[in-house]
Amino acid sequence: MDRNKRFEGKIAVITGGASGLGKCSAMTLAAEGAVACIFDLDEVKGPEAVKEIEAAGGKAEFFKCNITEEAEVKAAYEGVVAKYGSVDLLHANAGIIDIPRYIHEMSFEQWYRVININLNGMWLAAKYAITQMLKQDGGVIVFTGSNWANVCDPGFTSYAASKAAVVNLGRNLALDYAKDNIRVNVVCPGNMMTPLLERQLSTEEDPEATLEAMGQISQPQEIANLVAFLLSDEASAMKGSAVTIDQGETLGYRPGLRVTKK
Ligand SMILES: NC(=O)c1ccc[n+]([C@@H]2O[C@H](COP(=O)([O-])OP(=O)(O)OC[C@H]3O[C@@H](n4cnc5c(N)ncnc54)[C@H](O)[C@@H]3O)[C@@H](O)[C@H]2O)c1
Repeated sequence: MDRNKRFEGKIAVITGGASGLGKCSAMTLAAEGAVACIFDLDEVKGPEAVKEIEAAGGKAEFFKCNITEEAEVKAAYEGVVAKYGSVDLLHANAGIIDIPRYIHEMSFEQWYRVININLNGMWLAAKYAITQMLKQDGGVIVFTGSNWANVCDPGFTSYAASKAAVVNLGRNLALDYAKDNIRVNVVCPGNMMTPLLERQLSTEEDPEATLEAMGQISQPQEIANLVAFLLSDEASAMKGSAVTIDQGETLGYRPGLRVTKK
């Protein structure tokens, strides 16, 4: 297998592909030959990501789609299949985080917004990908979970619950569809330097101190490399795994894990 062309001829859908990890994943998959179909709400950053991929010699297309709206998700997949004929790879990744709130101070709408995008949106992305993959000779899916599927932070119930649910959504789908040649895994990143984290930090009283306390922050490319591996045939034995990739953050003492430059 040519390591630089692992996805030649493959059609990939990346939800949340206009920004952060999703954009990096789209660029990585396209660089190795896939057509990157970006499903995202953002009508400015989505087409910009496509231009960047094309400028780097890759193939991409933007499909405007709110991942929580079933009709829009279905239509976006229909658009991909009409133009490209298949859906071979899915990186189900679109997600949000809210500011921390204890549940007695949280409205049901605030809770539901996170659950709806982070869990229901993942379910919808997977449902229509799998429906198409069953008509082909299978496919591969990677969900973006979080290391907060396993650890908690004060005030983040909606995020932690949604990400824990994504892990078992992925594991159960791996079990359900292994016989159909559909492989499913989950990546569980720790803190990653993306617009999501930047927005989160800007709500803190002392962003610099918060950043320092977080320990080593990953770059999206470090996570996209794992996503690409899991989507590739090199990971043929990986089914239903939730892979933590978090600079050791879940080990405990975070600042102690930071690399100090000499
Ligand atoms: N940044 C981190 O520290 C971190 C850590 C662990 C896990 N994650 C997860 O990684 C994933 C990507 O996050 P990111 O940090 O790249 O964030 P980001 O905000 O940079 O990108 C998220 C993308 O999702 C899109 N999106 C949001 N809601 C949508 C919807 N309803 N329909 C379609 N698209 C929608 C946004 O427009 C955006 O382009 C998320 O699932 C997030 O929970 C992030």
